[in-house]
Amino acid sequence: MSILGHVMFSCTIYSNSNSNPFFCFSLSSSSNFRVVLNLLTMLLGSSSSIYASLCDRAKLVPSLSSSAPFFNSVNGVRFSKRNVGCGVVVEASKENKNQHVLDVSFEPFEEVKKVLLAIPTVPHASLARQKYTDQCEAALNAQINVEYNISYVYHAMYAYFDRDNVALKGLAKFFKESSMEERKHAEMMMEYQNKRGGRVQLQAMLMPFSEFDHAEKGDALYAMELALSLEKLNNEKLLNLHSLANENNDVQFVDFIENTFLVGQVEDIKKISEYVAQLRMLGKGHGVWHFDQMLLNGGVAA
Ligand SMILES: [Fe+2]
Repeated sequence: MSILGHVMFSCTIYSNSNSNPFFCFSLSSSSNFRVVLNLLTMLLGSSSSIYASLCDRAKLVPSLSSSAPFFNSVNGVRFSKRNVGCGVVVEASKENKNQHVLDVSFEPFEEVKKVLLAIPTVPHASLARQKYTDQCEAALNAQINVEYNISYVYHAMYAYFDRDNVALKGLAKFFKESSMEERKHAEMMMEYQNKRGGRVQLQAMLMPFSEFDHAEKGDALYAMELALSLEKLNNEKLLNLHSLANENNDVQFVDFIENTFLVGQVEDIKKISEYVAQLRMLGKGHGVWHFDQMLLNGGVAA
C-alpha cells in the first residue's frame, strides 16, 4: 500500500474481548496492506469489532492525517486510522459509530459516580477511609499499645538508674531517650491511624518493674538484656503487623510499617546487642562506670 511508504511495519491485531493481541506479523515495503484489511474483514465475521496496530519499526512515521478516513468501507466494514506515538493504528468495525473498543479512556464523571455514592454522610464515619480494613485498624491499635508498654518499661529503667544510690547517669539518659523514642513511635502510629480513617483506641498498660538489680549480672547488664528482649519482641510484633497488612492487600500500610519502623528496628537490635556484649565483658563495678560515661557522652537511644 503506497501510503505507508517503504518502511518495515509490525502489525498486531486485537479483538474487542480483551487487550491481548491474537495475531502479529510484519509488513515490508513489498507487502500489500490489503491483505491485512481482508484478514480484518474475515475476522469481523465472528467479531463485531477488532483493530490492527501498525508500528513503524524504522521510526519513520508516514505522514497520515489522524482525522481523515482511511478506508471508508471494505465489504461493509468501516476503517479509520490515527497516529499514536511513532506508529499508526488502523481500526475496523462493523458498528456505525466505529468506537475504539480497546482504546478505553478514563471517563471521570461516569466512573466517579460509584465512589461518590460510597462517601459516608453520617457524622461519625470517616470521610477519608478507603480500603482500610477493620483488621488492620485493630492490629495498629494493638501495636500502639506495644510501643507504649515498651516506652513505659524504659521510663521505669530511667527512674531506676537516676536514683541517687545507683547514679548511672548515662544509662538513665539512654533509657529516658529510648522511652521517648517508643512513645514517638506510638504517636506516629496514632497519626497514621487517623490518616487512614481508623479510630485510635488506647489500651491499658502493664505496671513495669521498678527494680532492675540482679545478683549475678548487675543492674546495667540485666537492664540492657531486658531492653534487647523488648526490641526483639517489638520486631516480631511489627513483622506480624506487616504480614497482616500484606494479607489485607494494603500496600500503603505495608509501606508505612516497612519504611518507618522495620528498617530502624534491626539497627536498634544490633546496637543493643553490642551493648550487651560489652557489658558482659566488663562485669560489675568500675567497668560499668566507664560504659555509663560512654553512654552519657555519646550513646544514642534505641
Ligand atoms: Fe518502637
